[in-house]
Amino acid sequence: MASIVEIADLKRIAKRKVPKLFFDYADSGSWTEGTYRANETDFQKLLLRQKIAVDMTNRNLRSTMLGQEVALPFAMAPTGLTGMQCADGEIKAAKACEAAGIPFTLSTMSICSIEDVAANTTKPFWFQLYVMKDRDFIARLIARAKAAGCSALVLTFDLQILGQRHKDLRNGLSAPPKLTPKHLWFMAQCPQWCLGMAMTKRHDFGNIVGHVSGVEDMSSLSMWASEQFDPKLSWDDIEWIRKLWDGPLILKGILDPEDAIKAADSGADALIVSNHGGRQLDGARSSIAALAEIVDLVGDRIEVHMDGGIRSGQDVLKALSLGAKGVYMGRPFLYGLGAMGQAGVTKAIDIVRNELDITMALCGERDVNNLGRHNIDRHSELVTRYDIDLSK
Ligand code: GLV
Repeated sequence: MASIVEIADLKRIAKRKVPKLFFDYADSGSWTEGTYRANETDFQKLLLRQKIAVDMTNRNLRSTMLGQEVALPFAMAPTGLTGMQCADGEIKAAKACEAAGIPFTLSTMSICSIEDVAANTTKPFWFQLYVMKDRDFIARLIARAKAAGCSALVLTFDLQILGQRHKDLRNGLSAPPKLTPKHLWFMAQCPQWCLGMAMTKRHDFGNIVGHVSGVEDMSSLSMWASEQFDPKLSWDDIEWIRKLWDGPLILKGILDPEDAIKAADSGADALIVSNHGGRQLDGARSSIAALAEIVDLVGDRIEVHMDGGIRSGQDVLKALSLGAKGVYMGRPFLYGLGAMGQAGVTKAIDIVRNELDITMALCGERDVNNLGRHNIDRHSELVTRYDIDLSK
């Protein structure tokens, strides 16, 4: 444990412990992975202002997202196949988030079902929804999230069609899945992972199997899922979802200023500036590069969150300084899960909490809610390149 001091350490261990097929699934972007990389590297192009000789005692990291109290200004992002990073992964991650007082977001494409996560946790979590062609199934899924007490619905709007991830193709992560000798070889390298999987019954997409007719196993499920993403999805669908879900609604996948205006008009309570972790449109802006313009445009009408590329507390601080009310992390928590299960997610949260706390102090701030553009150096490359107004 002593050798784990940053998220990169968890990533290194996870790479060893999780079969390549699933580690790569989490660790990939689409096509050249240019946007995936830019999500991370653009944070380095934003510099912080160092402040000295200010009172750094009694610091506060508590905040709110959607009016809900959070112990830290970040949540776990919805990530598909989380239960393949380690056995029962969604339940373990949800428990770690619950203990830390931060929101956990369960993906539609999770291995553990909504009901399963609810039965194994004590506080409400958030549910991420893909609006699929089978609208009856979607209506039932929303009703299930409601019945399970989910306290926010995260509507993903940037995956009507799947961006190509070369690693998945090369590894044979396909629909329908075929268990090949290569996959068995990947798994044979990871005995602890295999043991965990042998001891759990959760191997399918739990929200789907048994809830859609004709989908009883992994093969029929994958065929169904690959045909279900809806290329006709439109802004009007939000109105339909609003009729079924009267709780907090978060729209995920906003990167373009024109879409941000539509999101603010849509009646959603928050939007997430996101490019799906660089997994969809390769060549698009990084999330941190897109953030300030969107905050300036619609931040007075809708709460703005962001995800993409956050690997440290410094990154969290930079996003909050540009105006995000809260941020999401996916991969850092997946690396934690793959490395050490629930304890690894807790470790990831602790690492980021500590980095955020100390960095905030070194910026001369005591309250995470007081961070702002005054904390950003005006000579930062990203500020110049995107003409970010630091006086706001
Ligand atoms: C699903 O959300 C994916 O990006 O694979």
